[in-house]
Amino acid sequence: MRRSLSRRLSTAAALVAAAVAAPLAAPVPAAADGVVIGGSPVQVSDSPWAVALASRDRFGGTRAGQFCGGAVVSPTTVLTAAHCLSMEVLGAPLETVDDLHIIAGRNDLRAAGGREVAVRSVWVNEEYDSFTNAGDLAILTLDKPLPKDHVIAMAPVGDPAYEAGTRAHVYGWGDTTGQGDYARSLRAARVQVLPDTACEAAYPGNADGTYLRGVMLCAGELEGGRDACQGDSGGPLVARGRLIGLVSWGSGCGQAGSPGVYTRISELVARLTQ
Ligand code: ARG
Repeated sequence: MRRSLSRRLSTAAALVAAAVAAPLAAPVPAAADGVVIGGSPVQVSDSPWAVALASRDRFGGTRAGQFCGGAVVSPTTVLTAAHCLSMEVLGAPLETVDDLHIIAGRNDLRAAGGREVAVRSVWVNEEYDSFTNAGDLAILTLDKPLPKDHVIAMAPVGDPAYEAGTRAHVYGWGDTTGQGDYARSLRAARVQVLPDTACEAAYPGNADGTYLRGVMLCAGELEGGRDACQGDSGGPLVARGRLIGLVSWGSGCGQAGSPGVYTRISELVARLTQ
């Protein structure tokens, strides 16, 4: 696997520029209520841009090595969270993980079907701050292109999809209870975009991170119950048929007063179109 950790975001611009220019996608297909936490199963064929990030070498074969999620923004480009590729998550330096791949079009991780595509190169945001969690973004370039219908448009700056109160869905194969019950099939939870003030109040700066408006996005339910959880990181948060966030962090999962925090896609789009 080749990677270029030292490349700057201007190079990332080249990687996803085509995706930014792509026309806005059709509205998101209806997903069942309730991932993830308080979620329910969805068909990956209805949300083909939701992919699993996997390494059997690092995580074993039971769940095809899934350990994070990702979002397809061009046939050869997958966005995920920077922290997914950290030593802490991988348990080894990224450079030594030779079988990093994505799984697309497969509902049940134990089944065959869909595609496993090797990751050709990895760009990890060198500005990712593991204390605040700001800049939690990595860009994967795939070895072979996925079908065009897997691609989801990124919501540009000013898109109403970012407005507080907007209905959104988060997708993943992560923990469904907060107790290490990892899903075998893709799930989605309906959440809403919450005002920045909700996450600023919850996360003024503590062990988990610091909520920073502009680069992060707050979503969930104020009363808790529906949220992303461990194993969902890097996966898509979608509103109005467009990608608005990537699962990044939170305190616990689905707890009242501790919403989910997402990497804000508009920030990336803004940098790319500067
Ligand atoms: N950091 C977690 C992961 O690596 C995601 C946590 C999201 N938590 C939340 N409450 N929304 O999978």
